[in-house]
Amino acid sequence: MLKRINVEQLRVGMFIQKFCSTWDESPFWRTSLLLDNPKDLEKIQASGVEEVWIDISKGLDIAKPAADNIEAEPAVQKIVPPPVLAPRRASFDDEMARAKKICADGKTAVTTMFQEARMGNALNTARAHSLVEEISSSVMRNPDALISLARLKNKDDYTYMHSVAVCALMIALAKKLRLDDKQTRDAGLAGLLHDVGKMMVSQSILDKPGKLTDDEFVAVKEHPVEGHKILSESPDVSEAALDVCLHHHERFDGTGYPHRLVGEQISLFSRMGAVCDVYDAITSNRAYKAGWEPSESLRRMAEWNGHFDPVVFQAFVKCIGIYPTGALVKLKTGRIGVVVEQSESSLLTPKVKVFFSVKSNAYIPPELVDLAKLEGSDKIVGLEDAQKLGLKNVHGMWAGPA
Ligand code: C2E
Ligand code: SIN
Ligand code: FE
Repeated sequence: MLKRINVEQLRVGMFIQKFCSTWDESPFWRTSLLLDNPKDLEKIQASGVEEVWIDISKGLDIAKPAADNIEAEPAVQKIVPPPVLAPRRASFDDEMARAKKICADGKTAVTTMFQEARMGNALNTARAHSLVEEISSSVMRNPDALISLARLKNKDDYTYMHSVAVCALMIALAKKLRLDDKQTRDAGLAGLLHDVGKMMVSQSILDKPGKLTDDEFVAVKEHPVEGHKILSESPDVSEAALDVCLHHHERFDGTGYPHRLVGEQISLFSRMGAVCDVYDAITSNRAYKAGWEPSESLRRMAEWNGHFDPVVFQAFVKCIGIYPTGALVKLKTGRIGVVVEQSESSLLTPKVKVFFSVKSNAYIPPELVDLAKLEGSDKIVGLEDAQKLGLKNVHGMWAGPA
């Protein structure tokens, strides 16, 4: 049972289901947690969040029911641990090593799978399912590593890496939307296979460096239906994956294709697919366009009224962060650095590797600054543009050598 309480009533042993706050102040990535240490309690109480929902079937109740709480519970409560234990969180650096391998193996697997499809053969869905498992466990250990890494692609392997990237994004988004384990895997598989129909589109169109002619775009628009056909002839493909393949280019306002569905006529999975697909497309270097930075991409997507389901889009923004990994930021002290890792406690206090000072207009010895530990003595004042500042190899700062 859920109760809404003031943060002053919070105490260790309570299970927090949800923070009642605007998302940018929310001090925790995972929105639900068993409050099991006093430091977290202090952090939450200092964060500016005023109220939280607690689940009293999973943790302690408030000591005395509030006067206006008519559903008073008996005084004796026992702590019941949450049913599923989340896998251990890994540090960004540790996960990065594994994520590099998963990306490389994933790209090879998807390339093979999709080329089979191009030759008219059924998909090796067993390999697809095992890949979804690997990607999913990486995202559970640390969502930031694989997601940041899969964004870095070159135009030649775009379609294959895009599949891996959208799979990871769908899993992170499913988690954020609190879908259950099966739905989360379904979402991942859907992301992995959504563009398989592009194998039926001529390579010269996909690789065209410039804008498509109307006829070429008509041909591209066949890919959802073609993909759906391939998937319906392959074994063990969930309804969600079939649906996302067919409907990831529908738009919330009814202007998409192939069926011009509107609003909730589009399944939740396909509304998620639309957001993840476009985000990864526009943050990537493709044959016809260089990618934008993550924060710039989110800003633009927020302006495309009607394209996305606003609720799904908001949840997605929380997955990526306000200062996404790889973003160039300026600190109050005049230092410039790259966001290298998200913080578990707040979207506003990531770890930043500083390497330049605007005060001296010169490079400084690189230093890792953990803004969460600085307690406000230094903080991010804004995003910076690497090109404008003439800074090179910003990606190398957080992704390391390829
Ligand atoms: P894609 O490159 O994977 O892009 C997927 C979707 O992301 C696009 O679907 C669109 O909704 C969004 N998107 C990508 N880039 C931009 C952009 O610069 N601005 C905006 N507003 N949205 C963007 P869409 O448009 O239905 O295109 C489907 C596929 O058609 C693309 O997949 C790509 O393979 C191909 N395509 C589209 N336009 C061009 C083009 O001008 N040149 C070439 N070579 N291919 C194109
Ligand atoms: C869109 O909704 O994707 C089109 C808007 C734009 O290209 O700016
Ligand atoms: Fe597509």
